[in-house]
Amino acid sequence: MRVAVLGPQGSLGIHLCEELRLAGHDVDAIDRTVCDLATPDRESLYRLRDRFASGDCQLVVNTAAFTDVDGAEQKTDEAFLVNALGAELVARAADEAGAAICHLSTDFVFDGESTRPYDEFDEPRPLSAYARSKLAGERLVGKAAARSFIVRVGGLYGRRGRNFVSTLVSRLKAGQPLRIDRERWTSPTWNRLLARQLITLCERGEHGVYHATCQGSTTWFGFAEALCDEAAALGRDLPRTFVGVTTQELTAPAMRPRSSLLDCRMLRLRGLLKLPPWREALRAYLTELLIQGEL
Ligand SMILES: NC(=O)c1ccc[n+]([C@@H]2O[C@H](COP(=O)([O-])OP(=O)(O)OC[C@H]3O[C@@H](n4cnc5c(N)ncnc54)[C@H](OP(=O)(O)O)[C@@H]3O)[C@@H](O)[C@H]2O)c1
Repeated sequence: MRVAVLGPQGSLGIHLCEELRLAGHDVDAIDRTVCDLATPDRESLYRLRDRFASGDCQLVVNTAAFTDVDGAEQKTDEAFLVNALGAELVARAADEAGAAICHLSTDFVFDGESTRPYDEFDEPRPLSAYARSKLAGERLVGKAAARSFIVRVGGLYGRRGRNFVSTLVSRLKAGQPLRIDRERWTSPTWNRLLARQLITLCERGEHGVYHATCQGSTTWFGFAEALCDEAAALGRDLPRTFVGVTTQELTAPAMRPRSSLLDCRMLRLRGLLKLPPWREALRAYLTELLIQGEL
């Protein structure tokens, strides 16, 4: 099918475009130069709708977002423009062109106070401006489009793009001292496997809200240690120039949930869950890096 991808140069978008093409789909990559979601006006709506309609798109995937969690505390209007009104615009354009929309959201819509992973039936309670803007986007997308997949993800990493793992690998290689959170929990999720999961969901799933992360969990510090262990097993010793610190020691402008682990209940119930345990995914990711000469 023909699939339009917004945010094709973002960390998830790059992998999604690659995986869609590998799966035999035709991709229309729509970057910021074609549609700037910070200006969600009527002209942008018509332009996008006409592009989807003339290209006979059956699916639109919106991976584009204002993702600077700390920056959103200051640039709150910009975050809401892109993540809420911009997301609504993409959903309306898709709907009017007869395409389904897959919209990416975040584990940060939850407050992290639960003692168990959050499923799709738990009530969101966002703590930061970024998280509020993403929750607003979910709601507007759900109203604007009759056929929507709203997919909450978290702890993403992969080749290219700016993320915890690519930054960590390059800093460790450079021998830089690092302080890493040993209190906050995550389910690290490799973008390539998430992209495959999204394709399966959109090809075969019912519309609705879904959680999609790799299985199991660790702290960010535990993840850094696992990364070094797995790299060593592949014959690449990364200097362990990091120490574990408390969340409070890493002062950041935006509040983050202590633990925003997601239970992928709806993917499981629908028989569509493909994402493996996080450590298995990490091993596969590092193997890809090694093959590409990037480890
Ligand atoms: N990374 C994570 O751990 C994480 C966690 C939870 C949820 N998510 C969600 O997952 C999705 C993908 O995240 P990611 O990690 O791939 O993000 P990313 O690497 O920061 O990429 C974001 C993309 O959005 C585009 N974009 C930003 N502002 C735009 C605008 N005004 N108009 C058009 N495009 C714009 C960027 O374009 P440029 O390339 O031109 O800058 C970039 O391609 C997002 O919805 C994010 O909220 C991510």
